Amino acid sequence: MKNVQVVDHPLVKHKLTIMRDKQTSTASFRRLLREISLLLCYEVTRDLDLTTTEIETPLTKMDAPILEGKKLVFASVLRAGNGLLEGMLDLVPAARVAHIGLYRDHETLEAVEYYFKAPTDIGDRLVIVVDPMLATANSAIAAVDRLKRRGATNLRFLCLLAAPEGIERFTAAHPDVPVFTAAIDSHLNEKGYIVPGLGDAGDRMYGTK
Ligand code: PRP
Ligand code: URA
Repeated sequence: MKNVQVVDHPLVKHKLTIMRDKQTSTASFRRLLREISLLLCYEVTRDLDLTTTEIETPLTKMDAPILEGKKLVFASVLRAGNGLLEGMLDLVPAARVAHIGLYRDHETLEAVEYYFKAPTDIGDRLVIVVDPMLATANSAIAAVDRLKRRGATNLRFLCLLAAPEGIERFTAAHPDVPVFTAAIDSHLNEKGYIVPGLGDAGDRMYGTK
């Protein structure tokens, strides 16, 4: 699929299988999501621009590579986005963070916003939006709409599981935003859940069901 990258590293696949299993505990689910986020973060940042800086090693001076440009922004779609966010901040501790509070109305499946806080200079930074699930894509489209209204122009969307329907809708709404995912599942069921999926990511992370 155009503009979609599936991160199919064996470790990602293995951990995702354990997360899908309904017998997996809340504690294990959270730990696995954090571990996978490290691997996904590695891929979504693979092509970041570098510049050099002069440093002195114990032996000699050298021009050594460092990341170019302003610090990244990780934009977490609450609640479940925080499961990816935490591991990503382990790898990129200097990143700025945006929070977008959205929940799916269970009847209409529309995304309802309840919170938004983002760095003011977001337009000068690469923004990586994180949410484990891309189902109907209502939440992802709303999150990116909101960030663009705030001024973001350079965005990527990172998730764990995507439905083909969600990918199609998201890439049609935001063709400029590449999608990174660990897997593309079969379809959405009549309640808008990804099949085979892993259930409700927020509930499984926080034990709320
Ligand atoms: C889940 C998930 C996404 C959304 C995906 O959140 O984390 O944000 O559903 O579904 P969509 O693509 O159809 O919009 P949910 O609304 O359940 O909120 P929560 O994270 O607070 O549980
Ligand atoms: N949100 C989830 O958490 N899981 C799904 O399968 C769909 C939306």
